[in-house]
Amino acid sequence: MIVPTKDLFKLAYGKYAVGAYNINNLEQTMGLFQGCIDSQSPFIIQLSKGARAYTNKEMLEGIIRSAEKVFPEAIFAVHLDHGDEQTCYDCIDSGFYSSVMIDASHDPFEENVAITKRVVERAHAKGISVEAELGMLGGVEEDIQVDEKNANLTDPDEAEEFIKQSGCDSLAVAIGTSHGAYKFSGGQGLHYDRIKAIADRVPGFPLVMHGSSSVPQDEVKRINAAGGKLKEGAKGVDEEQYLPAAKLGVTKVNVDTDGRLVWTRVHREFFLDKPEDFDLRPAGKIFMAEYAKFIAHKNEKLGSAGTLPEIRKALGV
Ligand code: G3H
Ligand code: 13P
Ligand code: ZN
Repeated sequence: MIVPTKDLFKLAYGKYAVGAYNINNLEQTMGLFQGCIDSQSPFIIQLSKGARAYTNKEMLEGIIRSAEKVFPEAIFAVHLDHGDEQTCYDCIDSGFYSSVMIDASHDPFEENVAITKRVVERAHAKGISVEAELGMLGGVEEDIQVDEKNANLTDPDEAEEFIKQSGCDSLAVAIGTSHGAYKFSGGQGLHYDRIKAIADRVPGFPLVMHGSSSVPQDEVKRINAAGGKLKEGAKGVDEEQYLPAAKLGVTKVNVDTDGRLVWTRVHREFFLDKPEDFDLRPAGKIFMAEYAKFIAHKNEKLGSAGTLPEIRKALGV
């Protein structure tokens, strides 16, 4: 069942984080729902502009609506990831999305506020909540390259002011993470002091962590052993840091890259072992099962696993 994003945040805040997983196709959707049922966890499906353009946005909506019927127990929200203003309006008007993200973090503060405010007005009129972003993450953000060295953390005073002025419902903050498989060399640590300083200014306000993949090195090694050429040694977020961050106010944790690594590992290994094979389904079957296992594992680390019964009760569904 699709529920408002803000309902999931209210129940999770300060206790655990809700996993926000990017999906692009049927196999990922099946694995995501199965993994969340197996781990009894709520979740957020997020669709990027790229995902909406990959096949067709209607196709994605159709897949998700079908998954809702195939997995009637699932409780989830549908979210636009890294939207521009026009895409936000398209999603708001579609009536399908629980929330949208307006990413104007690359614009100056005042401009970011103005754009976010416009989106908030249109979204709130339809009961949809809005995630905004303040601060620059390292790595690659859609087509914007942010130099690793210039990655600047979100300023707590600015965050408080931004939330007040823009009226957004959650805020993506730069707290030491970056997007993609090539994160900071030698690993990256979350800046708990910064999370706490921001959360202290806006108690109870959901903070969002982007770039939360951990880029497991054994996964990277398996991909490379099966013919891949991924750069090794660039680690992501330590999964053991998810829950302490959640307790401080990080309520939504975005994961995309780690799921792509599962896909790449399964398909490379499958076709290396069976070079004569050309049926897409056996590899797809393995992927769906592996993706479900991966999702259930993430939910355990986020602390959201096992919460489904209490969420159903609280929401009366
Ligand atoms: O942060 C961005 C997400 O990983 C989505 O990536 O724009 O390639 O779909 P994408
Ligand atoms: P990763 O690249 O670390 O998976 O981050 C995904 C993300 O932030 C989506 O918005
Ligand atoms: Zn992101």
